[in-house]
Amino acid sequence: MVRLAALTMLLTVCALLLAVCAGCGSKLAGPAGAGDPYFPQMGNGGYDVLDYNIDLTVDPAAGPVDGTVLVRAAATQDLDSFDLDFVGLHVKSVQVDGRAARFERKGQELIISPPVRLRAGSTFDTLVAYSGTPQPLHAADGSILGWQRSGDTIFTLDEPEGAATWFPVNDTPLDKATYTFRITVPEGYVAAANGVLAQNIANGAGQTFVWQMKEPMASYLAAVAIGKLVLKEPQDPSGVPIRNYFAEGLADAATKAFASTGDVLAYYIDTFGPYPFESYGVAVPDADTQGAMENQTLSLFGRNVVEKDMTDPTGDAIFLSHELAHQWFGDSVTLAHWSDIWLNEGFATYCSWLWIGHSQGKAAFDKQVSDARDAVVSQKWPAPGKAPANDLFNGGVYDRGALTLHAVRLTVGDDAFFRILRTWADRYRYKNVTTADFVSLVQEISGKDLHALIDSWLYDSTMPALPGGGL
Ligand code: TRP
Ligand code: ZN
Repeated sequence: MVRLAALTMLLTVCALLLAVCAGCGSKLAGPAGAGDPYFPQMGNGGYDVLDYNIDLTVDPAAGPVDGTVLVRAAATQDLDSFDLDFVGLHVKSVQVDGRAARFERKGQELIISPPVRLRAGSTFDTLVAYSGTPQPLHAADGSILGWQRSGDTIFTLDEPEGAATWFPVNDTPLDKATYTFRITVPEGYVAAANGVLAQNIANGAGQTFVWQMKEPMASYLAAVAIGKLVLKEPQDPSGVPIRNYFAEGLADAATKAFASTGDVLAYYIDTFGPYPFESYGVAVPDADTQGAMENQTLSLFGRNVVEKDMTDPTGDAIFLSHELAHQWFGDSVTLAHWSDIWLNEGFATYCSWLWIGHSQGKAAFDKQVSDARDAVVSQKWPAPGKAPANDLFNGGVYDRGALTLHAVRLTVGDDAFFRILRTWADRYRYKNVTTADFVSLVQEISGKDLHALIDSWLYDSTMPALPGGGL
């Protein structure tokens, strides 16, 4: 009896010890980065986001924002803690699956410890409530990224790392997700975002605009534009609804500047295959910007771009066709690593040359090619492959990146080249790509191994001559 009691006690102690060990064993933390060598802190590991539900109440004239973001994700490992990227602002509370979670902030990481371990494969909801006035980032190349305000106009320009200035995010192009935006603004203001407008609800003294992006989207393409905007819906000959949001005072100039959108869309659909999203349009806020940006279904152009003559053949017609081409190449088919930025910018540049050639003739196309060659030589841009991390968007990525595609085309011929573009858009729709994927697709379609040619175009310090010596 006594011995049995002693044995039972021993067993109980063992069981207790085991239970304690399981509870206090090493903590399972999701990695604080997604593995991009250029931006090691961007993105996170341990989970895969499925959907963001971003609810923002914005006072555009004053600046502050009240936000709740619901991130639905699937754990890819057991997790005691995981990170979201989030910069600035005040985090009021975090809940995971409806229960309060501990959180701390370190640099750009919002580190969240849910009350119970998340199991690999399970889906979990993280709700982050926050407030404050978002502050943009100043990137290494001098560009201003993230949430920006000019007077009572607000817009976002996120590529590559601005998204975290306005919502908690797994900020890596590798983790595409669907999005819903619910943006409440005061009466008289309009809020545009990616996707389609699902609802527009009168809400006390204001208005709530609900936008849905139902196709997968990389976080750097998430966009909001708020202001006294007017909606213009031009003809959509190819059946893709076009909705443009122009600042009131710019509406006439912008309507003219973007008049050819439907034609470019039709030409691209013909050349690259179906438009990958449900709608397209541009936002032109009443503010100057440092360039145009291909936000998914809603490219952003600054006042300064529109006030130039966009119909000037040697001028900014190129912008319109460039950002639209990105919807296929960049947005739908997205780089996996930032060092492959030429896969976005070289492609979009080449597509805009194709449009120029289609709409203005061969001489206009040839001029794009020779101007680009001259610029690469005179500007001494670095080779476009593995562009410097602190100068990702240098001109060589655009011009020599596009010339790389031209060199491929001159080598494989038009038929194979356009099949390569169409297959690229189709096979990798909503996915991520690397330069190696492109090299192998070229080989698959053309039967030629262009590895060495593409390498020298992308990585040699001196730009090669175009095949055949000519244009
Ligand atoms: N992707 C843009 C283009 O199509 C360039 C760009 C990158 C950009 N980051 C930006 C433009 C930030 C404005 C702001 O060329
Ligand atoms: Zn571009």
